[in-house]
Amino acid sequence: MNQERFSRHPWNDVPSEWQIFGDNFSDYRSDFRVVDGDDVINKKLRELKSRGNTVMVDLMADTSALDQLDANGFRGRFLGVGLNDKREKEARISQEARNISFVNGDLNKSHTWKEIADWVGGSKIDLLMERGYGGLYFVPTYVHYQRAVMSRMWDMLNPDGGLMMLQTPTKDALEERGIAISAWQNQLNQKGIYNKFGKLAASKDYGQSYGLMILQKQSNILQLPDIMG
Ligand SMILES: C[S@@+](CC[C@H](N)C(=O)[O-])C[C@H]1O[C@@H](n2cnc3c(N)ncnc32)[C@H](O)[C@@H]1O
Repeated sequence: MNQERFSRHPWNDVPSEWQIFGDNFSDYRSDFRVVDGDDVINKKLRELKSRGNTVMVDLMADTSALDQLDANGFRGRFLGVGLNDKREKEARISQEARNISFVNGDLNKSHTWKEIADWVGGSKIDLLMERGYGGLYFVPTYVHYQRAVMSRMWDMLNPDGGLMMLQTPTKDALEERGIAISAWQNQLNQKGIYNKFGKLAASKDYGQSYGLMILQKQSNILQLPDIMG
């Protein structure tokens, strides 16, 4: 049942307007608070703000959350990745001047991941977020896609405490697809990789529920355990 609820929607059903779009980073923080009992997001933000020169990426989003982080004094390079750039020309120019960029791309396509990797270049991502809500219905849940994407994201993450905060299909939906989240979580724990998973987060988008995941990378654990176990 959950699998059906998370079946991929046909490409020609991509809405031109999303119910949740252009949210601020504070909205992301409220959602992820559900799983952030250790306050790792705030700790990371404090560290990044004082450090400057950060690299932040928001997948399945426009640049609004990143713009808010910039307005709150974070310095570095910021990248939003989504299906269409709805910014007015002035906003685009203003954001480019503040190192806020956008990749107009489909995460089903490897060239989009290449564009992201090219943008990251020789640096590493300090904060990688994704809060796709209804957008998650337009990327595959099957195991090979998820494993490829997890490994791509992990490779780009800063080994010095880079943080991933990701919205996912529910744990049940993923497990029905053969992604053994509980077993994977055991492996993460055994390796000492900081991880938090949400049960269900009530979503405002189409009334559906989503999962939440936080992972943190450390320099002594460069290899992420395979989600297929
Ligand atoms: C519901 S909005 C969420 C926006 C934002 N993350 C937020 O929380 O405010 C869904 C987003 O997913 C993006 N999206 C949907 N399918 C996508 C795909 N296949 N590749 C990249 N982005 C996609 C859309 O362009 C849109 O920005």
